[in-house]
Amino acid sequence: MTDVIPAPRAAAGSPDRAVPLDRGTTLWAAEGTGGTERWLRGTLGAALGLPLAPGAEDDPDSVRLRLDDTLEPEAYRLAAVPGRGVEIRGGSPAGVFWGAQTLRQLLGPDAFRRAPVRPDAAHAVPAGVIEDAPRFRWRGLMLDVARHFMPKDGVLRYLDLMAAHKLNVLHFHLTDDQGWRVEIKRCPRLTEVGSWRARTRFGHRASPLWDDKPHGGHYTQDDIREIVAYAAERHIAVVPEIDVPGHSQAAIAAYPELGNTDVVDTSALTVWDDWGVNPNVLAPTDATLRFYEGVFEELLELFPADAVASTGSAGFAAFSSFFHIGGDECPKEQWRASPAAQTRIAELGLADEDALQSWFIGHFDAWLAARGRRMIGWDEILEGGLASGAAVSSWRGYAGGIAAARAGHDVVMCPEQQVYLDHRQAPGEDEPVPIGYVRTLEDVYRFEPVPPELDEAQARHVLGTQANVWTEVMEDQARVDYQVFPRLAAFAEVAWSALPAPAERDFADFGRRMTAHYGRLDALGVGYRPPTGPRPWQRRPGVLGRPLEGPPPSR
Ligand code: ACM
Repeated sequence: MTDVIPAPRAAAGSPDRAVPLDRGTTLWAAEGTGGTERWLRGTLGAALGLPLAPGAEDDPDSVRLRLDDTLEPEAYRLAAVPGRGVEIRGGSPAGVFWGAQTLRQLLGPDAFRRAPVRPDAAHAVPAGVIEDAPRFRWRGLMLDVARHFMPKDGVLRYLDLMAAHKLNVLHFHLTDDQGWRVEIKRCPRLTEVGSWRARTRFGHRASPLWDDKPHGGHYTQDDIREIVAYAAERHIAVVPEIDVPGHSQAAIAAYPELGNTDVVDTSALTVWDDWGVNPNVLAPTDATLRFYEGVFEELLELFPADAVASTGSAGFAAFSSFFHIGGDECPKEQWRASPAAQTRIAELGLADEDALQSWFIGHFDAWLAARGRRMIGWDEILEGGLASGAAVSSWRGYAGGIAAARAGHDVVMCPEQQVYLDHRQAPGEDEPVPIGYVRTLEDVYRFEPVPPELDEAQARHVLGTQANVWTEVMEDQARVDYQVFPRLAAFAEVAWSALPAPAERDFADFGRRMTAHYGRLDALGVGYRPPTGPRPWQRRPGVLGRPLEGPPPSR
């Protein structure tokens, strides 16, 4: 009955009947649904030229919003009944909001514009009832704003795009070797020095091309507050990531004492202008721990544990208490060569450098837990043992996630072979800066976040799934759009909808609904990859990538 993406659990309708929405249609919002009331008026109302004036509960020409505690928190029920208007009930304010997203899709592509293009057009919602609820609680997108900075407006835009796909966690990768993107008042050099680089390699690390234009940017603390509040209004939790102890050259360039000064002259380091895994990692000293505790203290205030409540909108704040500490790809050469690191290993009675990393991560796990926050890190944090309560982002395939779930840790499944959206989406020569395996729209549609190795109890530790957008070869928003869309639509359906096993998924039906969805993406101004391949300006002829051949390893 519907073209809705992600597909709802159940939809029943009368094909020939519809509920008109016009300038006289009112909007009535029960207590607790004011956020969606604001969003509907500001977004749908603006797009279609509908005032949606405040109305009465019993107005038959109205859109009515209410809470219904018989529904699961994020579930909703949307009923469009001729002569009785439209009613959205949600199990929580979030459920009502997801119902409003469905209402927007039911109104056609013009509902995705910012102003009316056909002021006299009639608008109508197909008559019927949709009952819907998500499969997973964590439906995420990781944005790497460190490799290429995404200005604040772009982040707000991505929050809107996430909301339109019922995604609810922005994993915000804020720091890396190539840039530090968040203002820290007590350490101003992190942004003065760490937020820009003099030049950037254009293409994969074997590419001979350079862009000699300086690249940089950062979010002020007020920018972050705005982003968090904007996300909370859309029932999206923002989980910040400060990547330690590897991926830290930008921080070391700003504060050379953070590096292994007894091994390298860290005062000569600059923000990295190249790609790959970087040997310049943090020194495991008390001074480093204290430095990052100071950084985290400021960040915990900027990313409050209950962001929805603390930004003044009541709701379902599932994951704001998480704090991501990275922990991936930390080469150990400098620690092996560093007398100071070796002394630390001996003092702590540790077996080796891997155990030293585990100690480092464990320090912040305890530090965060003492402040009522939950640590999450890439699956390397499992090595050497992990305190209970910590959660894992499983990126090196499913194995880390399986091990974590078996050990009783919560897991977010984001295996690189499946849902790294920097990987190329078609095999052709025209694919811009081809990275990794070919992962088509259909491949993403057939991605299954819960591996069969997990029994039912273990599978409950899979909080959900996220798609990861690493931006080494995405120099601007247009390149991000190209890599992310349309695959994020398929990913959203995997995360939200109750799909059958991968081989049984009806990709033809998804493709049919995508026809309507491309119209929505066009109205939103998303620079997606067309099904026929890249448009000329979406190509990057001659820019070297790193394509991997054959099917990706399945597990
Ligand atoms: C990662 O891709 N290094 C988490």
